[in-house]
Amino acid sequence: MAALIAPSILSADFANLERDLHAIGDADYAHVDVMDYHFVPNLTLGLPVFERLAKVSPIPLDAHLMIDEPDRWAPTYAEAGAASVTFHAEAATAPVRLARELRRLGSRAGLALRPATPVEPFIDLLAEIDMLLVMTVEPGFGGQSFIDGTLPKIRRARQAVSEAGLDVWIQVDGGVSRETIERAADAGANVFVAGSAVYGAEDIPAEIAALRDLASG
Ligand code: DX5
Ligand code: ZN
Repeated sequence: MAALIAPSILSADFANLERDLHAIGDADYAHVDVMDYHFVPNLTLGLPVFERLAKVSPIPLDAHLMIDEPDRWAPTYAEAGAASVTFHAEAATAPVRLARELRRLGSRAGLALRPATPVEPFIDLLAEIDMLLVMTVEPGFGGQSFIDGTLPKIRRARQAVSEAGLDVWIQVDGGVSRETIERAADAGANVFVAGSAVYGAEDIPAEIAALRDLASG
């Protein structure tokens, strides 16, 4: 399966988001972290900024909503033009209904799990989503270390997706770098979010290419 690279603009310069979206124009998606000071102890940006990013981005946007009440707010990101909208299982009230609504609005639907959230209760939901995001750090901040303890969960998710004959992408987010991306790919991930590794690189296009090569095996 081809590896998709989604740099996280959490590590971009927030005063130069349009410039920094163009800097990752070689990537597959621009990963946009929405945080609300409630679901996670950090605050980033909301719908008005997201709408503008969707207008100026050279590549599709992958919204990662680390917010309370995603049932209420996630559809507005699909309406704003997100190619993919991922909400957290721990915050959603009716995840199947929400995933259906996102797809109806023309977006891909993603379900995210914190590192400590087990995948087993969500196996039956896989047919309703387009992507499962296995967080490989505690959500909230960039620059943290990849948690190897999440690898069995990635493996289990990939196994369940294959056994069911589904085309559900498995995304990893947090601590993804040249050092860790092969482990995540070996476990079955095919979409790789990287914030500090990409924006901290001297040559951003070269870093994206290197990550893609390593993940493709
Ligand atoms: C963290 C965010 C990530 C973050 C990853 O809660 O969801 O997308 O930007 O940053 P790095 O790649 O630096 O760990
Ligand atoms: Zn993220």
